Amino acid sequence: MIGFEIIGTGHHVPGKPVTNDDLTRVMDTSDEWIFKRSGIRQRHYAPEGVGASDLGAEAAKKAIEMAGIAPQQIDYIIFATMTPDFIFPGPGALLGAKLGIEGVPSLDIRQQCSAMIYGLQVIDGLIKGGAAKTILFVGAEAHAGFMPWSNWDALAGVPGHKPVTPEERERANKHRALAVLFGDGAGALIFRATDRDAGLRGVDVHTDGRYADLLHVPGGGFTTRPYWTSTMYEEQAYIPQMDGKELFKFAVTKLPESARVLLERNKLTVDQVDWFLAHQANQRINEFIREKLKVPAEKMPMNIDRFANTSAATIPILVDEQTRAGKLKKGELNLMLALGAGIHWGCALVRW
Ligand code: ACO
Repeated sequence: MIGFEIIGTGHHVPGKPVTNDDLTRVMDTSDEWIFKRSGIRQRHYAPEGVGASDLGAEAAKKAIEMAGIAPQQIDYIIFATMTPDFIFPGPGALLGAKLGIEGVPSLDIRQQCSAMIYGLQVIDGLIKGGAAKTILFVGAEAHAGFMPWSNWDALAGVPGHKPVTPEERERANKHRALAVLFGDGAGALIFRATDRDAGLRGVDVHTDGRYADLLHVPGGGFTTRPYWTSTMYEEQAYIPQMDGKELFKFAVTKLPESARVLLERNKLTVDQVDWFLAHQANQRINEFIREKLKVPAEKMPMNIDRFANTSAATIPILVDEQTRAGKLKKGELNLMLALGAGIHWGCALVRW
């Protein structure tokens, strides 16, 4: 029976951390408000000119190094992002070229924050079907492009920066509940076919497009002619609109439900799972999930305080950190959980 194992992990975050206090330079917020509601203390932003494919390439190089393979041994790339370098082509193609493995097939997936769960299903299928043996999965985000401020020098406290005008502050304030939650970064995982008793044990995934409006970018889509108009900037149509309260309710209801279904289907109990590797959208969401499932805090590692929500990158970054800390071990049974815009959500059980 062919399964998969993770032979290399890596992550990359750009530049210096931007703290909650730093954000007060461009909008009205506070460390207390942000930390209390989300558990976030800081995040990173990709500098101008750096895209998800660049962040992904840095993370991938570290994963390749850990795996001890030549990049040419990778025979499939899966790239997950909701903030691609271009509307098209997708960043998977750019990543292959940046790693010097042009010719290797790449697939871009669009499941936002739940991409890791969907990605595992695709990886399992490619490996079991014999289409690939060594798959590079990258989750990477450059959310900086949708942040609601334009004075990045003021944010960074660059000496002599232009002051932030009251109009600019007002513009940023309209989106402050969303803006404080997201940060940039990339995580990369290398999956390899194995005869060992390891790999995907089950998946429970769902999509409900009736709730697409809960988190979406209103502008820049191909329903308008042209798809990008000069008024979209003024209307802040490049910034995602989010109904935070509804998403919160959705996550704390649907994710525990999905986890229970998956465990029952596999005749397992919560105690038999070694690690709960959850998407990092909000500390409070994950605490609710833990309480509902009765998972001890030490079994659900968190890093949202340092990176904020890096969307498709959160689980790969978490897996890299836990691997490098020696926490994730061969043979363990781990449950991954995530929910993202779409709405897509679900869980995956993986024997490490
Ligand atoms: N700083 C200070 N005050 C703020 C901020 C801010 N950054 N943002 C909003 N406020 C104010 C609001 O104006 C409001 O003030 P008012 O009562 O005077 O009108 C007050 O704080 C409360 O605002 P709410 O939006 O009601 O705050 P809530 O308690 O719902 O928390 C939050 C907002 C943190 C966004 C929460 O709803 C949440 O985390 N939801 C989940 C969002 C999420 O996870 N999104 C991503 C999931 S999918 C994916 O990962 C892609």
